[in-house]
Amino acid sequence: MYATDLMGLTLDNPVIIAPGPWSRGEKLKDALQCNAGAIITESIVSESYSDTCPRYTYSNDNRGIQNIRLYSALELEEWIHWLSEAQKKNRYGSSSKLIASIMGTSPSELSYIAKKIEKTGIDGIEIGFACPMGEGQDIIAGDPERVYAYTCEVVKAVHVPVSVKLSAAVGNLSAVVEAAGKAGASGISGIDTLRCILKIDIESGKPDLPTYGGYSGAPIRPIGLATIASIAQCTDLPVIGMGGIENYENLIEYIMAGASAGGIGQRFCFTATMWSPRQYSIWKHGCKLTASNPSKRSEVELCRSFIPLKRSSVI
Ligand SMILES: Cc1cc2nc3c(=O)[nH]c(=O)nc-3n(C[C@H](O)[C@H](O)[C@H](O)COP(=O)(O)O)c2cc1C
Repeated sequence: MYATDLMGLTLDNPVIIAPGPWSRGEKLKDALQCNAGAIITESIVSESYSDTCPRYTYSNDNRGIQNIRLYSALELEEWIHWLSEAQKKNRYGSSSKLIASIMGTSPSELSYIAKKIEKTGIDGIEIGFACPMGEGQDIIAGDPERVYAYTCEVVKAVHVPVSVKLSAAVGNLSAVVEAAGKAGASGISGIDTLRCILKIDIESGKPDLPTYGGYSGAPIRPIGLATIASIAQCTDLPVIGMGGIENYENLIEYIMAGASAGGIGQRFCFTATMWSPRQYSIWKHGCKLTASNPSKRSEVELCRSFIPLKRSSVI
């Protein structure tokens, strides 16, 4: 198996279930039983918004979607219930590591949530700084000072490793990565969805959905790859890459760009087959084959040498 070290956690394989509603509540059991390397939960908040409807719209080729789901619709207490239940039941026999994504409106609120969630026995915390909805024009992921302040509080509050989820939609990525590192983050993850308005009906002048949303899926993969390569250039922290991963080849692309593991999001929205453990074993097998195939390994090395991974090597 292609085991991966991530923030001091040993993942059986580099396939991660990205944050989103597909592993929420009772679905957590199905997600765990896929035996992905890790699952990162939907972002848990202390004041949740219920699901709006409709909350998705599609691109014409059906490969990119806009969603207007803002953080998890489950209450903090419900998450504590589901995570504790999974822990009590030995994670239903799963080998997946469990990372809880959290978000709050102040450093103290965020550290409060982190402490509560840590007690359920999760393996790590991720701070979801990069959601492009509901934050006005500015997102925390674009503000190094706030990233530092929030991350510091969480790192101080818990014993598990903390990763920070960043966005491609900021112009000061290296400053934000540096702030997260200084604050004690153990890893960086990205990208979140990108702020979008997928369609406007030119007859009525109305967009498909009533507000900005997050764009995900294959169309954002080139942006995700470039962002992960840029992040890997300015930090030694392990990086979790996501954005448009549709198959294991795409995941390998992210690893080639500098990620230690890759997260799958939108594919879970409508692809029921993604839920089958068999589908997962195809992914894992693909990663394993690629990793154990010497010619592929040298491609990884070759690619890393084309993409200058360290700032010092950029002229
Ligand atoms: C419906 C939906 C809900 C999401 N919810 C969250 C969330 O709660 N927290 C988070 O950090 N990212 C969330 N994301 C972002 C994904 O985790 C991922 O970063 C992004 O969608 C890019 O990956 P993808 O193209 O594979 O979907 C969500 C994405 C979608 C499509």
